[in-house]
Amino acid sequence: MKFSAPAFSATLFALASGVTAQLTILSPGGPDLWWVAQSDNDITWTCKTSPYTNFTVLIANSDPTVLVQPQAFIAQQNNFDCSELITKDRVNMPPATGYTIQLADPFNETNVYATSQPFEIKPLGSVYPASSATPTATGSATGSASGSATETKAGAAAASSSASGSNGAAGLVAPGSLAAAAIAALGLMFA
Ligand SMILES: *[C@@H]1O[C@H](CO)[C@@H](O)[C@H](O)[C@H]1NC(C)=O
Ligand SMILES: *[C@@H]1O[C@H](CO)[C@@H](O)[C@H](O)[C@H]1NC(C)=O
Repeated sequence: MKFSAPAFSATLFALASGVTAQLTILSPGGPDLWWVAQSDNDITWTCKTSPYTNFTVLIANSDPTVLVQPQAFIAQQNNFDCSELITKDRVNMPPATGYTIQLADPFNETNVYATSQPFEIKPLGSVYPASSATPTATGSATGSASGSATETKAGAAAASSSASGSNGAAGLVAPGSLAAAAIAALGLMFA
């Protein structure tokens, strides 16, 4: 199963426009949020806006010589945990670029709910991403409709203010950086 670019774009569109409750992977993903091989890493997602109670967690790579097909490493992850520590005993992939994390339907792994931005797994001993770059999603996921809608709107507002160049992270010009800024803004909100 290949990385699904259209689904990814749809997620970004929904994130930027704030139209519906969405499940988005905040970390890892993109140039600033990598993993370190044979080390503890984590996954953080938008648990407060997720329409799902649980999902299967997979890792994929765009290069079939790295990984032929997505590999599930958590069969059933509760959404309300908001983030999960991934020790090397749970998944241990070689250093490479082009990895993505997928959150999928526990009954059908090819029904992918959310795909991270591509990220690198750096060699053992590499530094971790700066804590300032790492989004957190603490707090309870009550899943109330009003709460989710408010968060989505606030996230979109924060994303658009970031995109207008009000902070350093938004100073990047690549098209992908708007999404990165939106994701960073969401991460700050959930902190
Ligand atoms: C996990 O998700 C599936 C599919 O959405 C759902 O049918 C099931 O009830 C969920 N299980 C728990 C324990 O929440
Ligand atoms: C699993 O999900 C994929 C993608 O949504 C879908 O095309 C396929 O029909 C599903 N398989 C089953 C057995 O439901």
